[in-house]
Amino acid sequence: MASIALSHTNLALVKYWGKEDEGLRLPSAPSLSLTLEAFYTRTRLRISKENRFFLNGKEGGGKDAERVFSYLSSLLAFFRLPPSKFVVESENFVPKSSGFASSSSAFCALAAAFAEEMGLSLTKRELSIAARMGSGSACRSVFGGLVLWKEGKTGGESFAVPIKEAPSMDICALYLSLEGGEKEVSSTEGMRISRSSPFFQIWREECRKACAEIQEALKAGSFERVGEMAERNACQMHALTLSCGFSYISEKSLRALRLAQSMRKEGIPCYWTCDAGSNAAFLCRKKDMALVEGKAKEAFGSGLVCFPSGPGPGVKVKREV
Ligand code: DP6
Repeated sequence: MASIALSHTNLALVKYWGKEDEGLRLPSAPSLSLTLEAFYTRTRLRISKENRFFLNGKEGGGKDAERVFSYLSSLLAFFRLPPSKFVVESENFVPKSSGFASSSSAFCALAAAFAEEMGLSLTKRELSIAARMGSGSACRSVFGGLVLWKEGKTGGESFAVPIKEAPSMDICALYLSLEGGEKEVSSTEGMRISRSSPFFQIWREECRKACAEIQEALKAGSFERVGEMAERNACQMHALTLSCGFSYISEKSLRALRLAQSMRKEGIPCYWTCDAGSNAAFLCRKKDMALVEGKAKEAFGSGLVCFPSGPGPGVKVKREV
């Protein structure tokens, strides 16, 4: 017997960047995301005599396995369950060549499969709290569509809530695979360093304002306003890291930013965002997707690999008998 969970990744429109408590993964500010249809993780988990971790069909050791099993041990302790060992088989449907991270879908799927296998019958809020303990952004993947992660002062108060699981707004993302390679500064390390920035308090305030304003813009149905706020928040996150002497963005990521800005001058509503890596994403309406993709290929060459995605669903789990 095993439990299988399917979880989609999410793209932050307002970034989670900075922790108040590293162990609990309590964020310094709220964040807001769009769960994506195109990228997901499927995880199968069962109790076993020994811990084994398989990623995309290959048995993996090292840091990935260590993080998975230390997370599962912390969940056992959190839910006051006796020590157990697990076989975890994960498949990432996040295109390899894209170089995009999958920790949001990976840890959300792991939390959901664990909860199912242990018979925990968690509410979505409890599942979001459990997923957060694996990777902060994973708490948002519990829900589909547009999601808000409230900062919260304690572990029990910090969870994601759905804003609109099936957004009525036409909003999509186009990921651009600009360069591969491992990032030099992990998100965990980058967040830690960023707290020393003289702008860190301003960043927190800006995230709070951006979450409130994006929710207003969603109610008003203004895609342009949502896009503007998301682009500004991404620029602020990268300005914050730069103020501490490091950066994830490359010359190509900046070219993508300029491209979004020039498309807007031509009347195409397209906005830039970029996470802790140099691959950028554009936010646009579905009806403009082909046009935006064409512009990206014109700018970066016809060989550019792009991944379009619309809004995706929240996590799903089932028991295999
Ligand atoms: C830039 O959720 O990977 O993608 O909690 O340390 O595992 P940890 O961080 P993680 O950070 C995601 C950072 C981001 C922004 C975001 O998704 O909100």
